[in-house]
Amino acid sequence: MKITTGFVGREQALTELFATTFTTSEGPDEGALIADLVRDLLAETPTKDIRVFCAEDEGLVIGAAIFTRLTYSHDPHVVFMLSPMAVAPARQRQGMGKALLAHALEALRADGIQIAITYGDPNYYGRVGFVPITENQARAPLPLSLPHGWLGQSLTEDEMPILQGPSTCVSALNRSGVW
Ligand SMILES: CC(C)(COP(=O)(O)OP(=O)(O)OC[C@H]1O[C@@H](n2cnc3c(N)ncnc32)[C@H](O)[C@@H]1OP(=O)(O)O)[C@@H](O)C(=O)NCCC(=O)NCCS
Repeated sequence: MKITTGFVGREQALTELFATTFTTSEGPDEGALIADLVRDLLAETPTKDIRVFCAEDEGLVIGAAIFTRLTYSHDPHVVFMLSPMAVAPARQRQGMGKALLAHALEALRADGIQIAITYGDPNYYGRVGFVPITENQARAPLPLSLPHGWLGQSLTEDEMPILQGPSTCVSALNRSGVW
């Protein structure tokens, strides 16, 4: 497996990876919703606001993690949010998700990104340094249906700060069903 950065020319492969993975794990409705989300994230998000990490094997995209900018109106910290990520069903539980995230978080750190946030299973994301946070620490851009899945980590030597102000996600994430 090799990990690459960027998505230009891989939009179709990425959309299909997310469609297949989420259809398998959550059913066809969720598969379609996440595929639409990924298509829009890749098409609409300004380059400066998105980072995509792909796990590839023999030219096939078998895993991906998409990070986009979260802007806190009264706070200078550089914050990116992981959503969504997927590892192809046949390749799950082989450590690929963990390796992909460890690589991605290190690349974000090297790129000057100070805080990573995600929204998902604390047991899974805790394996790569995410800890539960509250909305007093970092407001979510939309109401959270599962507040215990709101997670964050500092990518610097400083502790996770209290991020000031309301937050804004990229336009493609500004939809119901995701939060
Ligand atoms: C979640 C996902 C990305 C993990 O990728 P992966 O390559 O299988 O993960 P790893 O091999 O690095 O880690 C697997 C470990 O995490 C655990 N794990 C996997 N998925 C988990 C989940 N959804 N919640 C909690 N733990 C999970 C497993 O128990 C496994 O532990 P084990 O090795 O002790 O059995 C992958 O299972 C996936 O794409 N799932 C469907 C889509 C999804 O839920 N995406 C995340 C939300 S955006």
